[in-house]
Amino acid sequence: MPKKILITGGAGFIGSHVVRLFVNQYPDYQIFNLDALTYAGNLANVADVADKPNYTFLKADITDTEHIYALFAEYQFEAVIHLAAESHVDRSITNPLAFVYTNIIGTVNLLNAAKNTWKDISNRNHRFYHISTDEVYGSLEHGGYFTETTPYDPKSPYSASKASSDHFVRAYHNTYKLPVVISNCSNNYGPNQFPEKLIPLIINNIQQKKPLPVYGKGENVRDWLYVIDHARAIDIVFHKGKNGETYNIGGFNEWKNIDLVRLICKIMDKKLGNPEGTSEQLITFVTDRAGHDLRYAIDASKIKSELGWQPSVTFEEGLERTIDWYLENKAWLESVTSGSYQKYYEEMYSQR
Ligand code: NAD
Ligand code: TYD
Repeated sequence: MPKKILITGGAGFIGSHVVRLFVNQYPDYQIFNLDALTYAGNLANVADVADKPNYTFLKADITDTEHIYALFAEYQFEAVIHLAAESHVDRSITNPLAFVYTNIIGTVNLLNAAKNTWKDISNRNHRFYHISTDEVYGSLEHGGYFTETTPYDPKSPYSASKASSDHFVRAYHNTYKLPVVISNCSNNYGPNQFPEKLIPLIINNIQQKKPLPVYGKGENVRDWLYVIDHARAIDIVFHKGKNGETYNIGGFNEWKNIDLVRLICKIMDKKLGNPEGTSEQLITFVTDRAGHDLRYAIDASKIKSELGWQPSVTFEEGLERTIDWYLENKAWLESVTSGSYQKYYEEMYSQR
């Protein structure tokens, strides 16, 4: 197996869990965490592995061709696990171009660097693993699941940019025989998620006694997976997945937004010692997201039957652990909500 692994986006939410898992589980691998540290990147997320001898952090922007090529030349990465992305749908609605730059151009930049560096492309040590989302398949009505053969039908600028990057990854496999593998995962939740996404936003706002914004009528459905189970799936696909294949990852765990928000309110009231019903009073129905996808639901049977992966944590356990983590890590929450991370992000994009 490859030993020099470039993980992109490793200071972000999912990437930090993947970096931690690889650094701790594979002491004989060299793990390179490449991240631009945008508003979503936070080195505190990987502070516990920062001093490990098999870990190196590289601050770089995946859209910077020269820098990316120089890093491939210097470190001769054997494999890539690519997570760096702009990841929030609402931001993609206000600033779609940022998503085109990072998610599409950044991905093609990495594909080119891998293709040009890996002279013997058939070497079994090489692998380009692209992490994607179920949102590329579009929106389901009230029945059925996304499978690996569901036609792409992205409906937001975010999902359109991820769909485009997936197409490029497959095109590089078809055209240049680049050894690639792709996985498309459902909504993740867990420690270290930036509090712009639904679950940490609701936890944070309950603590701050702020309104809990529910878009539209809260009827939209998402399929939630604990982030550490996603990281476990990434480990398995990286080591056992077949080149050219796609694997859908999900927990068969669908929740209507309003039901999920009410559940979080209930757990938080218990933990904070509030009378039941206190936090629910903060729920505020707000204007719906433009083009809001109704329902996502993943059929994860292929990864289970072919690679033997399934979630290890129930939703009740995962949510409990997540809420506990946010309650125990108030300093983390304060530092990411203070806005200091925005500075680099704003400077980067104001020049475009
Ligand atoms: P995140 O926004 O928390 O983290 C993204 C990371 O990428 C950050 O550390 C950021 O600094 C870095 N980054 C952004 N632009 C960069 C650039 N130009 N160059 C280098 N680094 C850059 O995202 P996440 O939720 O951890 O998602 C990681 C990946 O998983 C993404 O590709 C996303 O599409 C995919 N995904 C996410 C979910 C989910 O529910 N969060 C579900 C399925 C798939
Ligand atoms: P989000 O966490 O942004 O993930 P995604 O849009 O990628 O699914 O949102 C999850 C769901 O919660 C989605 O249907 C939008 C909804 N939502 C709200 O109702 N209120 C909010 O403040 C946010 C951020 C999301």
